[in-house]
Amino acid sequence: MPPDLLARLARIVGDAHVLTDADTTAGHTVDWTGRFRGPALAVVRPGTTAEVAQVVRECAQAGVGVVPQGGNTGLVGGSVPRGGEVVCSLRRLTRLDAVDLRTGQVTAGAGVTLARLREHARAAGWDYGVDLAARDSATVGGMVATNAGGVHVLRHGPTRRQLVGVEAVLADGSVVGRLDGLEKDNTGYDLAGLLCGSEGTLGVVTAARLRLVPPAREVVVVLLAFDDLDDALDAVGHLRRDVDCLSALELFLQDGLDLVCAQLGLRAPFTGAHRAYVLAEAAAASDPTPVLAGAVDALAAVADVAVATDPEARRALWRYREAHTEAVNRLGPPHKLDVALPAGALAEFVTAVPAAVETVAPGARVWLFGHAGDGNVHVNVTGVAPDDARVTDTVLRMVAQRRGSISAEHGIGVAKRAWLHLVRSEAEIAAYRAVKDALDPRGILNPGVLLPPR
Ligand code: FAD
Ligand code: MLT
Ligand code: ZN
Repeated sequence: MPPDLLARLARIVGDAHVLTDADTTAGHTVDWTGRFRGPALAVVRPGTTAEVAQVVRECAQAGVGVVPQGGNTGLVGGSVPRGGEVVCSLRRLTRLDAVDLRTGQVTAGAGVTLARLREHARAAGWDYGVDLAARDSATVGGMVATNAGGVHVLRHGPTRRQLVGVEAVLADGSVVGRLDGLEKDNTGYDLAGLLCGSEGTLGVVTAARLRLVPPAREVVVVLLAFDDLDDALDAVGHLRRDVDCLSALELFLQDGLDLVCAQLGLRAPFTGAHRAYVLAEAAAASDPTPVLAGAVDALAAVADVAVATDPEARRALWRYREAHTEAVNRLGPPHKLDVALPAGALAEFVTAVPAAVETVAPGARVWLFGHAGDGNVHVNVTGVAPDDARVTDTVLRMVAQRRGSISAEHGIGVAKRAWLHLVRSEAEIAAYRAVKDALDPRGILNPGVLLPPR
């Protein structure tokens, strides 16, 4: 590394935006779970796309890796340094243009948080189709980079579906992208689609042109209790069929609910204990309660029901599901395995995982919850050392045997790269490497993420 790299970076972004001391870099060098951490050469905070381009160019010339970082809420270790890279924080890129009312689109800087984006869209009579519990910190750049999913995928799809265009800085410091908002443009390769989900390994996202969705004016949430997991998953199918305005279908289990209530001091939603819970949300222009209530009445084997229509009551029901992440984290850094299963394999997988984990990590606790409507279950395991690979190996092999995905929505990061070969062929991994080598031949952008070492 040239000795003057930090001085050169400071000339680009200003002294105040090159952080090197442990106190100010601390929040950037450890991930949200506390499982992944590493030293950074510096945390650099450019304020414009041009500054991002210059920072990347300087680092490339110096042969120093760049870790793009947004809200640092990623859950696979891809947002924090591993060995002396420059962390490029995009949080100062907070451009948020007026909503285009004719197209229902908006251009947002990489550092705009999801909460701010949604507030902005709503103020203009629209809404944004992706929502997730880290909304106050997760950024547009991070959500594009991870193709974030969240609770409305069954209605609006993941981030990729909202993407009209992306502006990004490539590894050589060149700026590419289109923010012109053309809904139809088949001119060449889809760079926005390629950058989406690339986890900072192909380019640094600086802004995105996003498609908005009509706002949900009337919303109702039900929490359904079941004493049998198969009954709960059958209900998921029936609700998908019978409620055309479903906006979320989530799953959690009794031990997770107990943990959430104990950790956050919440009262349990029902007097009795049950095997599984399905949270369903319906949203429409006119009151969806009759259609959702009718569909719930037709379900067999519902042990208990809670209904919420006003915002506060809805938030209270959502809290039981959304607070799982925080409650689990309070037990110590978890191993978080975000997987998807074919519908027919989901119940058997959920039942089999705890016993399989017990064989390789006796005494570890397994917490299962997720987006039931998408076949996406979050397997969280606590009581295992951060670097213990046996739990990940066992669970991801179970997923691969059942023809599932080892990353439903969080990405591969560093947490799962060693298991990519379970679900991607040699030819596919070679194609990934060819793309990476073409766009980032010196391996400057997020080294060590997504692709296993050669
Ligand atoms: P970061 O954590 O900063 O980075 C994530 C990855 O993107 C890293 O690889 C990083 O290098 C890269 N990156 C970040 N910004 C850029 C950029 N501008 N250009 C290029 N690469 C970049 N995820 C879901 O999909 N669904 C959920 O329901 C969900 N719920 C969550 C709930 C909680 C409580 C928490 C803590 C996390 C949750 N997540 C969820 C994970 C996380 O919020 C998402 O992955 C989110 O997209 C990360 O955004 P971020 O700005 O925090 O990115
Ligand atoms: C969720 O669905 O709650 C998130 O993806 C976060 C998590 O997996 O903990
Ligand atoms: Zn999730």
